[in-house]
Amino acid sequence: MKCRKCGEGAALELRRHNAAFCAPHFTEFLRKQVREAIRQHRMFTPDETVMVAVSGGKDSLALWDVLIEEGYRTVGLYLDLGIFDYSRESREKCEAFAAARGQQLLVESVESAMGAPIPEVQKATRRPTCSACGLSKRYLINRAALTHGFPVVATGHNLDDEAATLFGSVMHWQTEALPRQSPALPSTHPKLVRRVKPLYRLAERETAAYAFLRRIDYIVEECPFAEGATSLAHKEVLNRLEAASPGAKHNFLFGFLERARPAFDRPEAVRLAECAACGQVTTGEVCAFCKLVDQVKRRVAP
Ligand code: AMP
Ligand code: FES
Ligand code: ZN
Ligand code: ZN
Repeated sequence: MKCRKCGEGAALELRRHNAAFCAPHFTEFLRKQVREAIRQHRMFTPDETVMVAVSGGKDSLALWDVLIEEGYRTVGLYLDLGIFDYSRESREKCEAFAAARGQQLLVESVESAMGAPIPEVQKATRRPTCSACGLSKRYLINRAALTHGFPVVATGHNLDDEAATLFGSVMHWQTEALPRQSPALPSTHPKLVRRVKPLYRLAERETAAYAFLRRIDYIVEECPFAEGATSLAHKEVLNRLEAASPGAKHNFLFGFLERARPAFDRPEAVRLAECAACGQVTTGEVCAFCKLVDQVKRRVAP
């Protein structure tokens, strides 16, 4: 197999693009996809500092690498979830990455924000672990960006993540979740920071290949709570479809974004208020995060 650009031996075949690339041209291809995402969705400008939420995994560290290489001003944010060795190791990966590139990494601890680490938070709620964890991450990432005055947060969600989330929402017809499924969510309230996903055009194996080629040292293990998560089952289904018909994932997600999403977009339908307890944005009186922290407190209290 030959590189589409230079005819040298190819390092990676991209069946859905009917193309193959050598290592340097694959790197260029990936960065071009990120530039295209940023341009098309006006994600941020060169004079804005982007807060990159990094988990220590391949996607978010690859994203941080691309943004640095593209010349953007960035700051990393790592949330220490307190999930045993998994959190300790992923934090070390983020710290080493930031130090090697002379970048600033902010670290926030779930335990100090919530009074308990994620495994304990989990015990205090009937929600599935990943749901309580996801809620806490969204809240704490937004709050950190507000506190430090960053206008935009970038996450490492890739095409596989986005297609799997969409698949889950459609499977359960969660129509209220569909308008929020977007590569770029604008700030709809002064206390909600813009959220963007510059890797949404790239498949997981592409971000993995990029991380490998760039020698990024990332945590390979999945979070121990991820096992059996429905999102993984959805990814498996989509991988089977993709194997049978390359481009299936892309068509599913991009078809939705271009043709179906506008039909569900009703920004005026959501009334946003400020939480009576913490002042962050909520649709109710008290936000879901404060309710969760309250449950944790009641459980932990003697
Ligand atoms: P996940 O929900 O684990 O698939 O992660 C999706 C994205 O959320 C990652 O690509 C990161 O940008 C961000 N993220 C996940 N975990 C963390 C964390 N512990 N600290 C900061 N950002 C995170
Ligand atoms: Fe949150 Fe696994 S990373 S439960
Ligand atoms: Zn080439
Ligand atoms: Zn609150």
